[in-house]
Amino acid sequence: MKYSMYYASVTGNTEMLAKTVEKVLANETRVENAEDADLVCVGFWTNEGTASEEVRNYLKTLYNRKIFLFGTAGFGDSKTYLDGILEHVEDNLNDTNEVIGSFMCQGKMPQEVRDKYNKLKEEVPNQGAHYDLMISNFDKALTHPDENDLKRLEEAVLETVKKVK
Ligand SMILES: Cc1cc2nc3c(=O)[nH]c(=O)nc-3n(C[C@H](O)[C@H](O)[C@H](O)COP(=O)(O)O)c2cc1C
Repeated sequence: MKYSMYYASVTGNTEMLAKTVEKVLANETRVENAEDADLVCVGFWTNEGTASEEVRNYLKTLYNRKIFLFGTAGFGDSKTYLDGILEHVEDNLNDTNEVIGSFMCQGKMPQEVRDKYNKLKEEVPNQGAHYDLMISNFDKALTHPDENDLKRLEEAVLETVKKVK
């Protein structure tokens, strides 16, 4: 099987996923161009509820491809939220493509984000409960992607490969 890999990662979370995907596919042939690939792997980090711009632009260049989509999100504690993001990301794909596998998990965020929530909490006291929730989510994200996330990702890749072969 020939596969291609494209991903964007600013702070390394999505890169961890990409490396895990590559490890699972170590015995397959990596090709540079998506046009030559039986499976196109695309990794994204979540920016305002969808993939960052470079990944959205990349997805728009794909036609007639089988795709494995993977990503990280800071607020990825709820499956409903993550599924919603995946839907927004898939909206960038032409109908000739098929997403045959996908995976998302939570990804830690920089400390400045927590500092900002604390500051806002002080500035807007009637929104305290809201910011407490954001801070609690921030703390939950700190350990992700974790070993269990990467294991689930490995399983998702293996299932996806079966659909190509
Ligand atoms: C500018 C910016 C916007 C973000 N927007 C969201 C968002 O809308 N939803 C979310 O769940 N996480 C959001 N995040 C968190 C990142 O998606 C998350 O930390 C991700 O794992 C970062 O991936 P990376 O380490 O591969 O860059 C945002 C982060 C930044 C820096």
